[in-house]
Amino acid sequence: MTTKEHNQRIKRIIISDEQIQEKIKEVGAKLSVEYEGKPLLLVSVLKGAFIFMADLCRAIKIPTEIDFMSASSYGAGTVSSGTVRIDFDLKHDISNYHVVIVEDIIDTGRTLKEIVRLLNGRNPLSIKVVTLLDKPSRRVVEFEADEALFTIPDLFVIGYGLDYNEYYRNLPYIAEYEE
Ligand code: IMP
Ligand code: MG
Repeated sequence: MTTKEHNQRIKRIIISDEQIQEKIKEVGAKLSVEYEGKPLLLVSVLKGAFIFMADLCRAIKIPTEIDFMSASSYGAGTVSSGTVRIDFDLKHDISNYHVVIVEDIIDTGRTLKEIVRLLNGRNPLSIKVVTLLDKPSRRVVEFEADEALFTIPDLFVIGYGLDYNEYYRNLPYIAEYEE
């Protein structure tokens, strides 16, 4: 695909870089108060949340550790396969941590419901879920984040870590994808 064809699929920006950064500062400050004096582990779900994790951890002003895991419920394209596979797991034993899961988007809810169930089984001190984006109208299983930075309608979005067929993760903003 040429760069021009690639860029033509970016339909419109729905959340700007500035809007994202402003919200992240707020949430980072809030988490810094909430987890002050507590052993904190930020857990990012790859790959979509890698940029959100990078910015959110820098907005947190208390000591924290970070870890990564990878799960997939989507194949290529925009339709969920309905099953969740853990591609790789955390390095940390989470039993002595307050865990904050840092996710890019909650769509059907399947991925996070499964991840929270799995991590709860390892007896962390607590678990919270912070998601950059939430599409509540798309939910198939019941699941609510503790913190959602932006609630969006039923659109397929790209950028700021989110992909279409692995492309567009490097856009600094969130845009609607032109199907
Ligand atoms: P869920 O299990 O359906 O909630 O799906 C969560 C995963 O699907 C996210 O972590 C994303 O990787 C992917 N996903 C869902 N909606 C979108 C979207 O609009 N753009 C890009 N990826 C999405
Ligand atoms: Mg994801």
